[in-house]
Order: sequence, then C-alpha cells, then structure tokens
Amino acid sequence: MTSTLISGISELWTLDPALDDPARPGETTDEQVRRDAALVIEDGRIAWTGPAAEAPPADAAVDLGGRAVLPGWVDSHSHLVFDGDRAAEFEARMAGQSYSAGGIGVTTDATRSASDEHLRELVLGRIAEAVAGGTTCLETKTGYGLTVADELRAAELASALVQEGQLDEATFLGAHLVPREFADRAQEYVDLVSGEMLTAVAPHVRWIDVFCEAGAFDPGQSEQVLRAGAAAGLGLRVHGNQLGRSGGVALATELGAASVDHVNHLAAADIEALAATTARDTAPGGRPGRLAVDAGPTVATVLPACDLSTRAPFAPARELLDAGAAVAIASNCNPGTSYTSAMSFCVTTAVLQMHLSLAEALRAATRGGALALRRTDVGHLGIGARADLHVLDAPAAIHLAYRPGMPLTHRVWRRGIEQP
Ligand code: NIG
Repeated sequence: MTSTLISGISELWTLDPALDDPARPGETTDEQVRRDAALVIEDGRIAWTGPAAEAPPADAAVDLGGRAVLPGWVDSHSHLVFDGDRAAEFEARMAGQSYSAGGIGVTTDATRSASDEHLRELVLGRIAEAVAGGTTCLETKTGYGLTVADELRAAELASALVQEGQLDEATFLGAHLVPREFADRAQEYVDLVSGEMLTAVAPHVRWIDVFCEAGAFDPGQSEQVLRAGAAAGLGLRVHGNQLGRSGGVALATELGAASVDHVNHLAAADIEALAATTARDTAPGGRPGRLAVDAGPTVATVLPACDLSTRAPFAPARELLDAGAAVAIASNCNPGTSYTSAMSFCVTTAVLQMHLSLAEALRAATRGGALALRRTDVGHLGIGARADLHVLDAPAAIHLAYRPGMPLTHRVWRRGIEQP
C-alpha cells in the first residue's frame, strides 16, 4: 500500500461531514475549508488532512504550488447513452421556438441504430470530457432506447461502465417518452415499462426515474412506474416541474424519492414539501459508502445549464435553500436540453444567476449530489472518503465565479489515481 502526500494547497474544501454544525444544517463551516493545507491519499482514500506544517511523511509527494483543492464534482443527473445530434433543434430554440420533449424521439431513433461498440465509444468520450472538467462521480440514465431490448442494452452498457469504474451510478428511464410506435396506446407503454422492461433492466441499475410532465407521463402513470420500480428494489428519482407544475415534486416527496430534478416551476407548497423531507432519517444503511436508497430527504436537483439552454426560468435554488430544502446541482448532460457536462460552468451559473454563495453552490455540486445518490463516500474529503480531488488553477475556489468560463481545472484525481 503506497501513500501520497499532496501539499501546496492554499485552500482545501474538505466539506467533511464530521465537521458539520448540527445547529446550521446544510451550511459550510470554517473548519470545513482549511488554508495552507496538505492531505494524504492511501489506497484510493483520504487518509489524512491538516495543516501543511504538520503533514506526515509519505511514499510519494506532490506539491500543488498554492492551488485550491475541492472534492471532485458529483454529477447526479446525466443522460450519456445516446447517439445523434440535435444542434438544429437547439438553433431553432435560440431563434424563438420553445422546448418540447418531442426531440427525445429523434435521439431515440439515432440511438437504436448505433452499434454496441459505437455507443460505448460515445459514452466513454463523454465520461472523459466530464472527468477532465473535475467530475469524479457520475450517474447516467437509459431513456433513449424505449424498447425492452434497447433499454436493456443501455442498462447493460451503463452497468458495465459502473463495474469498470468509469461511471458510478446507473438509472432506468424507460419512462422518458411514449415512443411513437405506442402513439395512442400510452397506457400499454406504461404497463410495458413497469412490467417486462423493468424486469429485464432492474438487475443492472440502482435507480428508476420517470419524466413526470405534460406531454410525457402524467402523475398517475409516473406513480405506477415508480411503485413498480420500488417493488423491484430500485431507488426513486423523478424529472419533475420542468415545463410546468407537473405534480412531479408532490409525487417525489410523497413516495420518498431520493431526488426530484429540474424543479423550475414550484409553488410555495412544493418548496415546503421538499423542505419537510429533510426531517427524514439519514442513518447509514446498506453497503459501506452508500445509504439505503430511501433513507434521507428528497433532494431538489437544479440544472443550471439546462435552464440556460432551454431559456427556462431558473429553478428557485435560493428559495429552496432558504426554506431548508436539500439542493444538488447537476449537469443534465443530454443532446436535447443541456449538451454539456461542465459542472464548473453549472456552479458558476448558480452563483452568478441563481444567487447562491460560492460555498452553497460548491456544496450542492458535491455533497448535494452525493446525498441525491445516497452516497457517503464521495462529495467530501473527510477521512475515509474516496480520494476524488479537483485541483483548480487558482488560489481560491471563488475564482470559479470570479473568472467565469476560464479553464480552471488543473489536475483531477479519481479514486486516488491522477486522471490523464
Ligand atoms: O432532463 N426532460 C427530460 N429529459 C431530458 C431531456 C431529454 C431530451 O430532450 O433529449 C432532460 O432535460
């Protein structure tokens, strides 16, 4: 077992949960951000953090020369398994057309026709882009297959990539859109998703998701899919309140979903319902490093790049935090509404446009994502956490917002291994 000492850290955001202040839940304390710090990685985990002057000896040493170190981004919402391009749809939107979920069908056609090898190469390329931008924990979804065989193929690919350590979490999104071959037979498709398709896909994924929105699945259909997923042992996620008050938030909070994502259109009652879920038990359970899928609050996951790319009203992240709701920031990388995996850009946007402080945005993109994925091993740099480091070419993390759009990712370690 070799150890590596990393020094020359001007600002170290451990966000260590052991240093949370119970009187100020969700807030970052001074002790969670160390100046002039060092850390030691051993066996892929954080073994020590502290003042540089007290650093212990190690087998190898790296001097970062006075740079800020953050936990790697935890991107809890992406759709990486797809082929095809929808630049024309995007251009039309910038010319005034509004987003309609119909483009999912265009991507579904392209994805169904892609070979297994090509699809795998595409996903690997997208993962590499995400990691190059500081993402070290990454969820992805099926949802551009929409037949039993094509959803199974996407789930098997995602699951293989989880086994290989390329991805971290896989989600079944057969309920993304009613495919055109089921036009006028939506209920038959819902029965298929919650029946045969779920049975085939469930062994390969940890989560089930549904697009609860007018034009996709109504709350009753969404509930059928989610309840079937829960009965199959999957954790619940919801695309909700993206285009209107779809009922997705109400459903997610009622069923104990781990996350409801988008949340652009919220009434006071939705915000209250989300905040109320923070009272749920978060006691660790299940495998080490993971919580039971239903232990904890329904996290409101906001998707700033998607809001920009669809010219939607920004999700009310400020109001959600003020009400005490748990908030995560994710990229929603997909070919329709958010063709970017740049989490730093999302964090910058959350600060500049959604009125979060840097500490709030940074925490939402690390610990928030981890909570939305019910993981305790990522999103922070406490002792025993996965050694997932995002080194900025800047002395302080505020430079992410102060220098918007600049390529500030300097070096990335994932599970203790420096990424190319
Ligand atoms: O999260 N809203 C539903 N699903 C994706 C968009 C899918 C698409 O348009 O291809 C999202 O934004």
